[in-house]
Amino acid sequence: MAFEAQRDIPSVWTVHCTNGTEHQKNFFLFVKPDDYTICSNGSFCSLETISRSERLSGEEGGSMLCRAVCSAGRRLTPAASVAGCRHKHSLPDLPYDYGALEPHINAQIMLLHHSKHHATYVNNLNVTEEKYREALAKGDVTTQIALQPALKFNGGGHINHSIFWTNLSPNGGGEPKGELLEAIKRDFGSFEKFKEKLTAVSVGVQGSGWAWLGFNKEQGRLQIAACANQDPLQGTTGLIPLLGIDVWEHAYYLQYKNVRPDYLKAIWNVINWENVTERYTTCKK
Ligand SMILES: [Fe+2]
Repeated sequence: MAFEAQRDIPSVWTVHCTNGTEHQKNFFLFVKPDDYTICSNGSFCSLETISRSERLSGEEGGSMLCRAVCSAGRRLTPAASVAGCRHKHSLPDLPYDYGALEPHINAQIMLLHHSKHHATYVNNLNVTEEKYREALAKGDVTTQIALQPALKFNGGGHINHSIFWTNLSPNGGGEPKGELLEAIKRDFGSFEKFKEKLTAVSVGVQGSGWAWLGFNKEQGRLQIAACANQDPLQGTTGLIPLLGIDVWEHAYYLQYKNVRPDYLKAIWNVINWENVTERYTTCKK
């Protein structure tokens, strides 16, 4: 068994083995095959599925950021391992109640946005990945290519919303502090100028999409970018997402109707700067 991940986040995983046993295991995602025996009896049994059942530190997308590659044995090739894995993504819980962001974003919007819209991206991502695994197992490259738009749309929807929920807080608003504020001043002139620019980019997104504050790791600076539809920021631009603003109509229409600028004025009152700062600090390392 091998695991691949972008970050070494400790997690609790549920491991289901083909011999019918099930185990809760705590470990970092970077696990070498020989470091770990699956079964409680100490033997290395065939692994059927593996899923993250709890995260031990905050991270968006849960299992989206990691890819557990499971196999029926230690010696399978990576491609066969992926094809044999039935890992499923799941809808992350909101870190607050649906009505907690009122009056800035009402409970009805949050309920539908999280439990319907985000849930649909998760479900469709799982369906798409299942089809992709089947195509991979058959060596069907044409189908793999045909599935890529659905993977981008639903995978992006899952990644983006998972970040978005944590970027908001009923205790949010105000301004960031410390090194994030200093970086904003350095790269945009002032917090007010940054706020004006991100608002303007958000207003200017044509149709459905997102506006982002991202970190350009190569250049060591903050950047603002807009993405169409559910295009994920890092996957399509290389920028590391710090703060995302969802400007799809489903994010505001029930409360603000067609007046997107009013929604954008309100959202600054619930921005979770602690979360944005944590993301900045992490990606700078
Ligand atoms: Fe959305």
